[in-house]
Amino acid sequence: MQSGTLPETGASTLASAEATPAAGVADPAIWPEYDYPVTVPAQDAAMIAGLLSRMTLEEKIGQLVQADLCCVTPEDVRRYNLGSILVGGNSGPDGNDLAPAPDWLAAADAFYAESVDTSDGGVGVPIIWGTDAVHGHSNIIGATIFPHNIGLGAARDVGLIERIGAATAREIRVTGQEWTFAPTVAVPQDFRWGRSYEGYSSNPELVASYVGAMVRGLQGPPNNQDLLSGPYVIASTKHFLADGGTDGGVDQGDSSISEVDLRDIHGLPYGPAIAEGVATVMVSFSSWQGVKMTGNRSLVTDVLKDRFDFGGFVVSDWNAHGQVAGCTNESCPQALMAGIDMYMAPDTWRDIYDDLLERARGGEIPMERIDEAVTRILEVKARLGLFEAGAPSTRPLAGDYDLLGAAEHRAIAREAVRKSLVLLRNDGPLPLASGSRLLVAGDGADDIARQSGGWTLSWQGTGIDNSHFPGATSIWSALDAAMEEGGGTAELSPDGSFTTRPDAAVVVFGERPYAEFQGDRATLALDAELTGPYETMRNLQSQGIPVIALMITGRPLYVNPALNTADAFVVAWLPGSEGGGVADVLVGDAEGAPRYDFSGKLPAAWPLTPDMEDGALFDYGYGLTYSSPARTWQELPLSDTASASDSRVWFADGLPAAAWSLHVTDPSVPTSQIRITTVPATALDGRVSVTAVNHVVQEGARRFDIASGDAAMSLSTFNPIDITREANADILLLFTLKVDEAPESAAIAMGAASGEMVENAVELPATGQFVRYGLPLRCLRDKGLDMTSVQAPFVLETEGGGDVSLAEVRLGMDAERVLPCS
Ligand code: BGC
Ligand code: BGC
Repeated sequence: MQSGTLPETGASTLASAEATPAAGVADPAIWPEYDYPVTVPAQDAAMIAGLLSRMTLEEKIGQLVQADLCCVTPEDVRRYNLGSILVGGNSGPDGNDLAPAPDWLAAADAFYAESVDTSDGGVGVPIIWGTDAVHGHSNIIGATIFPHNIGLGAARDVGLIERIGAATAREIRVTGQEWTFAPTVAVPQDFRWGRSYEGYSSNPELVASYVGAMVRGLQGPPNNQDLLSGPYVIASTKHFLADGGTDGGVDQGDSSISEVDLRDIHGLPYGPAIAEGVATVMVSFSSWQGVKMTGNRSLVTDVLKDRFDFGGFVVSDWNAHGQVAGCTNESCPQALMAGIDMYMAPDTWRDIYDDLLERARGGEIPMERIDEAVTRILEVKARLGLFEAGAPSTRPLAGDYDLLGAAEHRAIAREAVRKSLVLLRNDGPLPLASGSRLLVAGDGADDIARQSGGWTLSWQGTGIDNSHFPGATSIWSALDAAMEEGGGTAELSPDGSFTTRPDAAVVVFGERPYAEFQGDRATLALDAELTGPYETMRNLQSQGIPVIALMITGRPLYVNPALNTADAFVVAWLPGSEGGGVADVLVGDAEGAPRYDFSGKLPAAWPLTPDMEDGALFDYGYGLTYSSPARTWQELPLSDTASASDSRVWFADGLPAAAWSLHVTDPSVPTSQIRITTVPATALDGRVSVTAVNHVVQEGARRFDIASGDAAMSLSTFNPIDITREANADILLLFTLKVDEAPESAAIAMGAASGEMVENAVELPATGQFVRYGLPLRCLRDKGLDMTSVQAPFVLETEGGGDVSLAEVRLGMDAERVLPCS
């Protein structure tokens, strides 16, 4: 491997600089030098030069643009000569992200056919299709779902990583795609970050040791050519750079770290990626020292392309160009000039295309930059063997649907699950004797979507159930099968109740699926609404039944109450489709001798408290085994997690979140506004009475009995919020409301810090039931509200009296009833 030599850090190089370097501008001289191992064969170079000389400016610009399946047709691909398409988390063939595998291959053929159509006189460069196969071919029903990267980090097995990469590449090839947006080589430093599970570890060395293996598994050996004639796809290391280093763990945020830390922590994994000839690099949404990476020429061009010698092409992230200073989603020549070769412009590709074309024609963008970007893209396509490969369905492995979830791939995934489990406590109940009686409890026991996490079939990993995972095994069914094999029995009982007293109980609990910024949290506490199974553990324990807590999670979290209560505690991370790996280790033979020992070690420190200031409960690398004696348990201190609220929950259990307040106003008389702090209360000269009513918990909702006239119930915050990303990602404003008497008319309004207000009329019929309504944020954005500074994101306006009860207001996707934009 061409391991670069690290120059002396800090003092000598940085301090010798004449002036203080400008914030966000890198000094390439302090970065290691690598050698990209891929050589472009002479005949490819000649072919590409020939193509370039024949391509029109329009054709060249088309190659620089990538559109999402949501928003592009095969005809568009022909007409605009687009270089690539992608399938975002919520997209799929014909608008169906849950489409069966053959539809994906058919779509690949359709796009390919139009891309090589030369009837309009063009050169017809074949298209490449990128997908987030980030833990297996995870957009496809029936594919093997491997543990998310954090679990692989726990497994500490480089060889396994390469086999996972190879199996994933084979499954991708079945449905005709050529490119995966993986591996994520983030080195998360703050696990409040919602994408922490996409990183292998907080330890740069561990991440670096895996990256090359994953790239090799996906692409084959470093200078591999003609990938499509073998079982390979091209990889993309992402997100360059320091996606896992943002201050406070804020997704798409800013990393204010020094350049030396940027290099030594977040830059480290790029060395082995380049040594393995990774074909593409995806640039991060985030910033370094206030400068968005997508516009940072010093890092993308001077460090990555020049110093690191990266010879593939650079792709930006989902409309990330729109966040660069001076840019919009529709226009951003700055990204190209910074070194981006391909724009991920999912729904904005037409605008980006038109804009680049116009600026190129006007001479604003130099032809050399365009030619360089196009050449890089064509070189990668040539390396794939794309020009000779023919239609996707005619290539090796295509249409071989038995390979999706093939037994040998599932066996690798199961091995990965086995190796990723981390044992934090065992006072004796493990391994379970398979000749005994087991109770399996907890809300996560029989839920494959839950054990798979985000980026599984849908973007957030939500909206799916076990029926979407043919051939997969839930933790419950794996435990059941293992017990039966040993002559014992297992009973599934989510709430822990039982008829026959069990010898032991496994309680499966933990996080629910999320992706990207939807997973950002204010603290490291497990969300309060997910701690219900603690009570189940306590109940079982108080009856003298040994309890094994099994946690599904994308990150280490404060769970001291569970650690204290349970007799054994196992972290399963996000294991994916093969629950069998869990049973392999937890369940021993009939007498309870282990079949497999634990070998997983923590990929990051485990917190002692919800805020990280108090250090680790368990250090990086911790993990018990059956053969090492368990330590005596010392009761852990408990922290108050009441304040540990999710920043996207503004009103829960009838109460506003911290820094939020609930008001009642008559919209035509602003001075009528009163803040509701205690109930019962009256407002608007007695026209409105506010009381507490039950919902889920006692007094879990607020009832507004409005005798007559106009009224507005609103939630506002002292610190205006920026919900631009959420609006762009089609997230809903969710509110759980019971209508006992319908108002004559109603609207949901939203107010900006500037005082500006927009409203969306809604129908709220009286049902007498709590209903979780969802209004797409974009309805309000499209009416012109400034989403960067929202003060009152929820205002319920009613006319003519009514009787409504409000339980919860938050952001999310899981509405029971989605309301239309008016
Ligand atoms: C994510 C990337 C992903 C891309 C395509 C972005 O929002 O940040 O990791 O590859 O979408 O789905
Ligand atoms: C994700 C896409 C997803 C989209 C939803 C993006 O940020 O990366 O994969 O489909 O949001 O709008």
